[in-house]
Amino acid sequence: MEHGHERSSRLPGFYTLPISERAKLAARFSGLSEEEALSLSGLGSLTGELVDIFIENAVGSFSLPLGIATNFCVNGKDVLVPMAVEETSVVAAASHGAKLARFGGGFRTRSSEPIMTGQIQLYLKHEVDFDRILTEEKESLLEYANRGQDRLLKRGGGAKDLTWYFIPEIQSLVVLLHINTVDAMGANIVNTMVEKLSAFMPGLITGCEVGLRILTNLTERRLAYAECTIPAEAFRHTTFEGHHVVDKIVGAWAFAWHDTHRATTHNKGVMNGIDPVLIATGNDWRAIEAGAHAFCCREGKYRPMTTWKKTKEGHLHGSIEVPMAVGTVGGVTKLHPTAQAALKLLGHPGAQELAEIICAVGLAQNLSALRALATEGIQHGHMGLHQKNIDLLQKQMRAIQ
Ligand code: MEV
Repeated sequence: MEHGHERSSRLPGFYTLPISERAKLAARFSGLSEEEALSLSGLGSLTGELVDIFIENAVGSFSLPLGIATNFCVNGKDVLVPMAVEETSVVAAASHGAKLARFGGGFRTRSSEPIMTGQIQLYLKHEVDFDRILTEEKESLLEYANRGQDRLLKRGGGAKDLTWYFIPEIQSLVVLLHINTVDAMGANIVNTMVEKLSAFMPGLITGCEVGLRILTNLTERRLAYAECTIPAEAFRHTTFEGHHVVDKIVGAWAFAWHDTHRATTHNKGVMNGIDPVLIATGNDWRAIEAGAHAFCCREGKYRPMTTWKKTKEGHLHGSIEVPMAVGTVGGVTKLHPTAQAALKLLGHPGAQELAEIICAVGLAQNLSALRALATEGIQHGHMGLHQKNIDLLQKQMRAIQ
């Protein structure tokens, strides 16, 4: 049932190799140069100059462990996934979830176009027929917003749509500008465009006062989706039948669906997979966190980010859909040498492909957590790996004393 590939992300025993050997193997997988491999290992990474460019009042940089999750097969293509994270067992769990998914051919993914949305808030001082005005002016407003954005337009991007709604409690008309930002995350593009467009509004909607002009991180038009179907035999366990584990995973998901406390922890586990890839690739993980959690509340109750069901054949089917505004060009992605090397490791994906891979990692992470929780419990595997840290800590303590 396992997929056979020329370049396989199945690397049995990868975890037993010394760090330098792991880095070499990963470099060979993706054709990284020696310098890029060094960036991946963090050794040639942030210079004082870059640190000073990225933030204000910089005094240095803060390191996180960078690991590589194995076994990922996304739309028939094997990938090694870079994950920057400090928590023991996260990378192992992602790799384990991906290994389980391989029994059903790996992950299938898709995503919507990279449409970001900017909000322009307009305080209305008196009644005005904004529906008529905005409907009539929509095309010229889009044309005005796109003026001066030649590079974006050439790449197929630019402002594509304009919508609006009214919030009576604060007498605010909210105009939404929907912009295709192609391979950029797009925050700067969106904020520039809404600021420019807002200057036009008081002339159009008489008596309005411009309020906030900013993107929304609830990127409902920029979603990514991943799914996998795993045969029950893949879950056979020393003390459990495969179909029993499938039932238990579905039950664990149902708990999260009906209970906000459990949904919060369930989703924390999903973000255990998503955030480390965002960080490794230089993306804004706070933006994705905010968007993902808000999206989970879209029906008025906080729900789990993933769905796990049993198919009529008795297989386990899992899926995830979340807003995923990530970029592969510009900003930190471009300037941070480790982020550059991480993107090369992933095979230089465009923004949509990266968004889809990240969703697959979130789903794998969640699968692994639910499988453990529903069977032997989370501490069994976690504590095994954690013991290594405890041993090291004790050794250091002895050296100090
Ligand atoms: C720990 O970092 C994440 C989990 O708590 C997730 C979950 O409970 O689903 C194991």
